Amino acid sequence: MNQSVDFQDFIDEVIQKNDIVDLISRYVTLKRVGNRFQALCPLHNDKKTPSFSVSPDKQLFHCFGCGAGGTVIHFIMAKENLDFMEAVKLLAERAGVPVPDQRSAAEKNRAAQIHEKKKRMYAMNAEAARFFFNNLIATENKKALDYLKNRKLSNATIKNFGLGYAPDSWSTLIDYMKEKGYSEEELAEAGLAVKRENGTFFDKFRDRVMFPIIDLRGNVIAFGGRIISDKENAPKYLNSPETLVFKKKENLFAMNIAKNSKEGQFLLMEGYMDVISLHQNGFDNAVASLGTAFTPQQADLLKRYADKAVLCYDSDEAGQKATQRAGEILREAEIKTKVLKLNEGKDPDEYIKLKGPEMFRFSLDNAESFIEYKIHSIEKKYNLEDTVEKIEFIEQIAKVFANIKNDVEREVYIKKIARETDVSPDNINVRVREIARKSQKIEASRELSREKRQFEERTGGRSDLEKMKLYNAEKLLLNLICEKDVFKAVGNQLSPADFSEGLHRRLAEIIFETLGKGEKINPAAVISLFESSELGLVSEILSDDKNVDNRLEAVKMPLRIVLEHKRKIADEASVQGGDAAKLQEIMDRLKKEKK
Ligand code: GTP
Ligand code: MN
Repeated sequence: MNQSVDFQDFIDEVIQKNDIVDLISRYVTLKRVGNRFQALCPLHNDKKTPSFSVSPDKQLFHCFGCGAGGTVIHFIMAKENLDFMEAVKLLAERAGVPVPDQRSAAEKNRAAQIHEKKKRMYAMNAEAARFFFNNLIATENKKALDYLKNRKLSNATIKNFGLGYAPDSWSTLIDYMKEKGYSEEELAEAGLAVKRENGTFFDKFRDRVMFPIIDLRGNVIAFGGRIISDKENAPKYLNSPETLVFKKKENLFAMNIAKNSKEGQFLLMEGYMDVISLHQNGFDNAVASLGTAFTPQQADLLKRYADKAVLCYDSDEAGQKATQRAGEILREAEIKTKVLKLNEGKDPDEYIKLKGPEMFRFSLDNAESFIEYKIHSIEKKYNLEDTVEKIEFIEQIAKVFANIKNDVEREVYIKKIARETDVSPDNINVRVREIARKSQKIEASRELSREKRQFEERTGGRSDLEKMKLYNAEKLLLNLICEKDVFKAVGNQLSPADFSEGLHRRLAEIIFETLGKGEKINPAAVISLFESSELGLVSEILSDDKNVDNRLEAVKMPLRIVLEHKRKIADEASVQGGDAAKLQEIMDRLKKEKK
């Protein structure tokens, strides 16, 4: 990145005004150890020893475990999963530092263009929604309204959800929108029209009831259209394609309403009609994914507003399969999940029509947990009267239990299964623990090989003891010579070339150049000269966690190791040089003899 001096000043100010100890202690408890702070690393699953270290003097952090490191900016990037500029902006805002606009004119132009295009697409979708709505309530077009009335939707519901009707025509919407100033190309980009091979356009939605999909800020971002006449080969639902403003994996139908619900949990359904029907019956917390399977992004979206959910999928086989998958995704997101069983009716819409809202709420309150649901679905597959099947059943159940983190919860379920199968809880527990241990072992061995790989990456594949000693000596030496006094005392015995090729040598070059000019080392500035993958190592080297009392004394040992190695290399080179000369001599003689 080619950044101006002003920009570097701005970055420096942001770092200066966000004290790293203050900032990181908002995420994790820091314990003072000498002139630095220690913690369990908040950036990786650090369970054993505190491998995370913060240096208040250098304003740097690093972790031995996961290799992360750098300034406050790098910490926020890693912790909040932001890119560099996003992290800088956040910290600038936090400290009240005004952000200069760094983007090039071309970039600004492009961003403004995209912003304009999105704004126009929102307006276009809103206009189309108005058109569909007006079509629905127009007196001459009774068919669609009758359909919705037949399905027991009230006028208020139709209005609240902004339902509509796309006429049975190839160009009514296009004609209307053209009049409003939108081009056919634009309509196609918004997913409202489709371009034919010959370059002409036609309305995408024809003769369908329209369900606008609205984002959290109230923008219409897409449509779902349901067929209302018998047509062969036409899909029941037609949905907008992905566009500049519509990412179906990241949105949920009716989330714009459900996010304000006071229920404290979400009801997850499969269909638009289910959700609308539930809202009409007073359940303003119903949402649905948009014609695709439930995604982890959608789980994250729910988690922002509540940590409980009830899966209310259809009672058919597809619905049950979807329940299993969505349940696992919700468990990953740590959302407490229950599963609603529809004893009668194929979907929540039918169920609430049959039972009424009070009964529906009763069923919700008494719904089984996702774990119980899984147990029951496994139970259905086995005949517990048969010994072989019973053993296999317990094996499958044990796998489910191995995933339960809460000890009490696990014990309750184990006891229940023990009663049902007449196998002792202790024996079931043994099997559960075995499975849990095995999966932990797999996890641990993955972790170990990750650490080893990381170490080898850092050391260039060197792992024997001698090289390790040299590597550590160089690290300590680089740290100590950053201090002016130390550099003065030993700098003349060394040059950057005495450090291992790669990161150590590049860092040495920077240190020698800076101190050689009589300037001080600014850790944040030094760090900015390295690749993001190198930050952890550089900040580890520059940090103040070397537990050194007397730097002039401490430098002697690593200096000796590095100089010894230098001498050894020189010796080897001369020996090799000798060999080569000898070899040449023999070759020459052989050549002569041949002649
Ligand atoms: P009704 O059958 O009218 O009660 O609608 P529903 O909303 O309950 O739909 P259903 O349970 O059949 O399907 C659940 C969801 O899957 C729908 O809301 C759509 O999002 C999606 N879906 C259903 N059929 C189709 C289809 O043919 N194509 C696409 N792309 N999505 C569909
Ligand atoms: Mn339905």
